[in-house]
Amino acid sequence: MDKGTGSVSYRESLTRAGGLFASVMQETGPIPLQIRGKIPGWLKGEFLRNGPARFCAGTSLMNHWFDGYALLHRFRIHDGGEVSYRNRFLESEDFCRDQAAGRVMGQQWGTLPGPRDSVLTKFFSTFRQTTPDNTNVNILRAGTRMFALSDFSTMVEFDPETLATKGKLGFADRFGPKFMLSAAHPSIDPETGEIFNVIEPPGRRGKVYVYRLQNGSPKREVLCSINIPRPVYFHSLALTRNYVIVIEQPLQLDVLGLIFARLYNRPFAENLHWEPGTGNRYHICDRRTGQVQTITGPAFFFFHTVNAFQPDDQTIVIDLCRFDDFSINRSFYLDSLGKQGLDARETSRLTRVTLDLARRTAGERRLTECPLDLPRFNMRYSFCEYRYVYGAGLLHEKQNPFVNQLVKADLTTGNADTWSREGCYPSEPMFVERPGAAAEDDGVVLSMVSEPGAGLTRLLVLDAGNLEEIAEAEIPAYIPPGLHGQFYSA
Ligand SMILES: [Fe+2]
Repeated sequence: MDKGTGSVSYRESLTRAGGLFASVMQETGPIPLQIRGKIPGWLKGEFLRNGPARFCAGTSLMNHWFDGYALLHRFRIHDGGEVSYRNRFLESEDFCRDQAAGRVMGQQWGTLPGPRDSVLTKFFSTFRQTTPDNTNVNILRAGTRMFALSDFSTMVEFDPETLATKGKLGFADRFGPKFMLSAAHPSIDPETGEIFNVIEPPGRRGKVYVYRLQNGSPKREVLCSINIPRPVYFHSLALTRNYVIVIEQPLQLDVLGLIFARLYNRPFAENLHWEPGTGNRYHICDRRTGQVQTITGPAFFFFHTVNAFQPDDQTIVIDLCRFDDFSINRSFYLDSLGKQGLDARETSRLTRVTLDLARRTAGERRLTECPLDLPRFNMRYSFCEYRYVYGAGLLHEKQNPFVNQLVKADLTTGNADTWSREGCYPSEPMFVERPGAAAEDDGVVLSMVSEPGAGLTRLLVLDAGNLEEIAEAEIPAYIPPGLHGQFYSA
């Protein structure tokens, strides 16, 4: 399927960004992992993850963290504290086509397709665009089925046991498989199992459909549609017991630019324009009636919401990881990471947005000074006042090679506990509650930690109460920092 470790692009990928984004060429497992420490006896289940892990195809080299081909991971934590691991590439149409052709051929977030095409070929490719299906961001369980997701509407199904790719979900609704923007993080109601997301067919003007998926059905049930001046980028939504909140941030998609992207040599993200003058619009959709009310507030950019709740009927609180603008995207180009890394002054801060429905205002308050993103919390506290947010952040005040510490933020005090280790780059921390727990932070935090210097990767198990190490399991292969996952208790 691939041109292997002999390719020029693979060898080049080994040294980019200090080796942090060295391409994975070999799949691993299933294998038992060597464990140091002791995994708690109550911790049993499957930890599934997704993320970009191969940054080359033959002669082409990916240029952005978000472009790598999706690698699926499964940690199985058995009775008795043993851990087994396997990974497998998502065999999307993009992956199979590009690896067979030996070059990148489709639309990418920050990478141009292979350079060999003539102007005429590029021109005609404008009319043959397919929906990108290298869904390398998140995973979603819908009913009994498991899917890999990105910010496009395509959902690629895989087998959670073997991680084998089953193919794209054929939606049984009026939108079908056509190319649409969506959010890689659907909002899930843990009490009802309903899944909420948006789809946005590209057009000169924007139209966002808020939909619900229930009971594993492939039919998207439209709750409401919202007209907006231009199509915009989404990555996550907010959910309370009464409302789905769609935050329209002013990161506008130039659709004409996207259509002619090949001809103009522009990857997808170069067609997103930051227009802060319009502010952020909070479209608040009633989950029962589909009625929408809109509140406007100051502009900022975010990828990730955390929790949302309503202290009273007229107030909605949304916690999210706030950037001043979209310039962080530049920092995730692999060349930029290699030269400058990530600057803590420009990264996201955990922020509380309070929407007053009566006064129609949006207020903001920073919850902790510690940089934090890839947020997780105890899902039992969804829709409620809560105290702790876990996330990944930056250790040093200014320059960092990449995300290099885990953080537990206390929303009551604003203080943060942290975990870090020299030369280690942790991924999104997954909170798993201990069965029978009374305290919100009684459980563990799981994180996959990349250690390029040692050429290996670990599953780290921390005490969620104080972020002290409990155990770690070693994967004898290097895997670059990935994106999102989920834990399913046995
Ligand atoms: Fe995300």
